[in-house]
Amino acid sequence: MMRSIRWKLTSSYLLLVVLVLVIVTAYVTQALHRSYVSTYAYVVATQAKVISLMMREYAGKRNLAELQPMAQTLKWRKEAIIALIDATGRSTGPDAAASPELEKAFAGEESQAVRFDPATGETRVFAAAPILGPDNRIAGVVQVSAPEAWVWRQLRRMAPALGTASLLGLVAAFIVGMRLSRRITRPLEELGHAAERISTGDFASRAPVDETAELERLGRTFNRMTDRLQQTIAEITTERKKLEAIVSGMTDAVVATDRHGTLMLLNRAATDLLRADPAGALGRPARETIQGDRLPAMLEDATASGRITAEELPPGSVGDRVVEVHCAPYRDDQGEVIGAVAVLRDVTELRHSERLRRELTANVSHELRTPLTSIKGFTETLLDGAVRDEATSRRFLTIISSEADRLVKLVDDLLDLSQLESKRVTLDLRRVNVAALVAHTVDKLQPLAQGSGLLLEQAAPPEVWVTADRDRLEQVLTNLIDNALKYTPTGGRVDVRVAQADREVEISVSDTGKGIGPADLPHVFERFYRADRSRTRGSGGTGLGLAIARHIVEAHGGRIRVDSLLDEGTTFLFTIPQNG
Ligand SMILES: Nc1ncnc2c1ncn2[C@@H]1O[C@H](COP(=O)(O)OP(=O)(O)OP(=O)(O)O)[C@@H](O)[C@H]1O
Ligand SMILES: [Mg+2]
Repeated sequence: MMRSIRWKLTSSYLLLVVLVLVIVTAYVTQALHRSYVSTYAYVVATQAKVISLMMREYAGKRNLAELQPMAQTLKWRKEAIIALIDATGRSTGPDAAASPELEKAFAGEESQAVRFDPATGETRVFAAAPILGPDNRIAGVVQVSAPEAWVWRQLRRMAPALGTASLLGLVAAFIVGMRLSRRITRPLEELGHAAERISTGDFASRAPVDETAELERLGRTFNRMTDRLQQTIAEITTERKKLEAIVSGMTDAVVATDRHGTLMLLNRAATDLLRADPAGALGRPARETIQGDRLPAMLEDATASGRITAEELPPGSVGDRVVEVHCAPYRDDQGEVIGAVAVLRDVTELRHSERLRRELTANVSHELRTPLTSIKGFTETLLDGAVRDEATSRRFLTIISSEADRLVKLVDDLLDLSQLESKRVTLDLRRVNVAALVAHTVDKLQPLAQGSGLLLEQAAPPEVWVTADRDRLEQVLTNLIDNALKYTPTGGRVDVRVAQADREVEISVSDTGKGIGPADLPHVFERFYRADRSRTRGSGGTGLGLAIARHIVEAHGGRIRVDSLLDEGTTFLFTIPQNG
């Protein structure tokens, strides 16, 4: 059981008082006893002397035996014994054994002694005095004795008084002890309360400073310590917040586990990437909270081996993303591995654009190769002699010229696309009348439509205006109509319509052509994508037109989409916002 200082102080105080009382009582009792005994012995001795003097009066006339009854009348108490002993040493009354005081009395001296008396079986106070005869010779001796126990009886009478005094002393000691200990423990208790408040995080709390020297020092030291603690904690907190801000603000995802694989840290990028709930995930095993087992395994490996590892996780490990993971162990001051930290970078876009770049190179090379091969073939035939036949050489040169045109278009489109993709193109924004633009484009392409035996129609409300780059819009429209004409068999029709929607203009190009299959539909806006390569090769398309169109529409803040049914027709629709 824990005892309070207060209780300990009071009890030791009481113990001390009891001890002092016991010692004092023992000493006082001893001293009183001695003093009482000597007083008592004096009384007994005086008695013996008085009796001896009285007996002297009668010693000449009667013998001691006769005087005995008279002597007994002088007994002042029942337990007192008065013995007269004649000169021969015989007692004339009660027995009186040989004893030092008797010997001295026979030698003419009065004397006394406190000793054990075998006859009565108790300690008694003895006194003896000589009885002188008429001739001044010793006629006998008177011996008086009384029990020493009387002294104790006398002392015992004082016991209640002593007890009361002790009790009062104890009560006083208790009260004083309580007050004194209260005086000492209160500052300690307050110090304790302050310490408790600080332990719950209230670092502004201070202990009251007591004026007692030691407690004052304790209080001041405690407060200084708290100051330092508050300061240190504030510094640590700021440092931690700084670090947290840095880690949480990182674009790379950071995940840390301790040596048991428990999740210790997840920054914002990590919770986004791993789709984890930080509140539920922290403090739980990484294996339970992180989807897929590759990342937890890497963290475990780094913790177990103490080595840095790097790996690229394919889609499926962390959702559908491609993630580059660098995993490193972290150590304590002794160099012991106490966990691992992984930095994850979402490289999906990077890998995607890398792939696109590779594909682009392959595609461009391929597209360049076809016309170049053709040009080279015809040039060699001409050099081999065909040049001498004018009709043949004219036909071949026409083909060479058209292949060169195709090359120029391809290079122009590529340049255009690369500028649009790198957002290096600035739009020349003006107020554009949409109906006029559509009419102009349709008129421009009408001969092509007629040449292919197609009906090209337009329907546009007259006063619809947008703020846009007129040439770029014409480029989009031209490409869409050109596609519609290109991919619609003879006898079909192409409709260009303009509609005013909520703060934007919708322009659609529909045809009754061969349509685009559902498998190709999502890809038609990708560069170099052609739905039917074998057939469109002949049409001379490069597959860049729609990619360019999408970039132009999006640069205006609009959207482009396509609806199509195989063998029924296709509708391309794009919007241009009017507030831009
Ligand atoms: N109206 C349409 N009907 C059917 N297929 C179409 C239509 N418009 C586009 N496509 C398909 O989408 C592909 C991509 O069109 P895009 O305009 O980008 O390329 P292209 O017309 O082949 O070449 P370019 O326009 O560069 O000369 C086409 O090759 C074609 O397969
Ligand atoms: Mg096209």
